[in-house]
Amino acid sequence: MTIAALTTSIAHEVKQPIAAACNNARAALNFLNAHPPDLGEVREAISCVVGDADRAAVIIDRIHDHVKKAPPRKDRFDLNEAIDEVFGLARGEITKSGVSVKKSLAAGLLPVHGDRVQLQQVVLNLILNAVEAMGLVDDRVRELSISTEQDRDHILVAVRDSGPGIDPAHSERVFEPFYTTKSGGVGMGLSICRSIVNAQGGRLWAEANEPRGAAFRFTLPGPEGKPAGATA
Ligand SMILES: Nc1ncnc2c1ncn2[C@@H]1O[C@H](COP(=O)(O)OP(=O)(O)O)[C@@H](O)[C@H]1O
Ligand SMILES: [Mg+2]
Repeated sequence: MTIAALTTSIAHEVKQPIAAACNNARAALNFLNAHPPDLGEVREAISCVVGDADRAAVIIDRIHDHVKKAPPRKDRFDLNEAIDEVFGLARGEITKSGVSVKKSLAAGLLPVHGDRVQLQQVVLNLILNAVEAMGLVDDRVRELSISTEQDRDHILVAVRDSGPGIDPAHSERVFEPFYTTKSGGVGMGLSICRSIVNAQGGRLWAEANEPRGAAFRFTLPGPEGKPAGATA
């Protein structure tokens, strides 16, 4: 299942318990505002809210299990080639949005041992987020840069854009499930991307791009499966 399909189904499933929680919370308020307040009904309504919230949490856990449980495949592949393929998939969105692409893929990159399709999903999501972020940019070039780099025993990938960037105070929040600033957003993309990268022994984080925009970087362990960032 693609991340996009996954997030749509999550949004659909989670809406129901959240709507139920809202209704029960409203009912609790009404019982409290009654004269005299009906505390028995309040207690019952609030325990329903707890139940609704638990159901939503279970749905979210299931998604993360879905990513974790399926043991990532251990393909041996050329990451640059896999990234080029992703650009083929995203080309339509990129052109439509007037975004120019700067690729700097390192020559002589060691082969990656990991799940090729899942890692392509991560890159695709980072690209689409960047393109969406730059949709708001009118006064400067919309530029997406992607780079790969061999850093000792691990590989470093960066996806950078010239969009509005991320408030440094939110650089971790963007990875939380359901954090979104988009009207039609689900807010699960980055959370799933992080689960995927972690499951493959890497790390994914966000920082400010220079001179402006956002930079998403992730590492992947080297061929011996050493954890990313481990020193010799
Ligand atoms: N390249 C980016 N530039 C600025 N903000 C970003 C970028 N990528 C993600 N974000 C922020 O992180 C939030 C969460 O992203 P994501 O998990 O992919 O969910 P969604 O795309 O559905 O909002 C976005 O709504 C946006 O606020
Ligand atoms: Mg997204």
